Amino acid sequence: MTRHAEIDLTRIPCHVAIVMDGNGRWAEQRHQPRLFGHRAGVESVQDVVAAASELGVQVLTLYAFSSENWKRPVAEVGGLMSLLKTFLVKELDKMLNNNVRLTCMGDLPRLPSEVRSTLEQSMAATAGNSGLTLNLALSYGGRAEIIQGVQRIARQCLAGQLSPEAIDEEVIDAHLYSAGLPDPDLLIRTGGEARLSNFLLWQASYAEILFSPIMWPDFRRRAFVDAIVDFQGRERRFGKTGAQLRAG
Ligand code: FPP
Repeated sequence: MTRHAEIDLTRIPCHVAIVMDGNGRWAEQRHQPRLFGHRAGVESVQDVVAAASELGVQVLTLYAFSSENWKRPVAEVGGLMSLLKTFLVKELDKMLNNNVRLTCMGDLPRLPSEVRSTLEQSMAATAGNSGLTLNLALSYGGRAEIIQGVQRIARQCLAGQLSPEAIDEEVIDAHLYSAGLPDPDLLIRTGGEARLSNFLLWQASYAEILFSPIMWPDFRRRAFVDAIVDFQGRERRFGKTGAQLRAG
């Protein structure tokens, strides 16, 4: 791949999460239907997955469909589901060749059965891969994720398997959809809006957040590398002072 002089390959963020926003406005600017924007957005997905994999990012979480997106017009929801299924079918060979492991998180039973079965097949086929984990957030909502986790924890407490005092960050982490994945280091939202939209509410506590004005269909490899360079220029203090960090 073309490398950019300013990127430090020894300090690549372990987990990058992206809110891929702006497909609809990108299409409207071109007097095209919204699905035209989503289709162009798939090309950005392909580009960014390839770049993440080549740069050594360990986990890339993409917010592909939120729990709120079910409220969109039926034709747009259907179009997105069909794009997702086509993407999964077309990309499987590439994922296998590039050592990419596919995972997903969200309220998966709400997905159409043919999307779910394609997802399950691709996840099973790539489960042994050790390169990039491509984690798709589908029918995902951060609050719903926390609610289902809390319900499971409460049931364990009621059954006497867990004491309330034993509930700590690790217990909560282990009951989220994202169990087993590290927290995101860098969270990018494209499309010019500056909000989280119910994405990774627990996990993003210490993520560096980058709001990019670029619409998702225009967010390609170069923009992704620029986002990582921006991340590398930040000082992550995790509540400490800069002086404490420099003192080690
Ligand atoms: C938000 O843009 C984007 C989505 C709701 C869907 C994102 C989906 C893709 C990029 C394609 C399918 C995904 C994969 C992984 C193959 P928006 O429609 O809200 O844009 P707007 O804010 O400009 O209206």
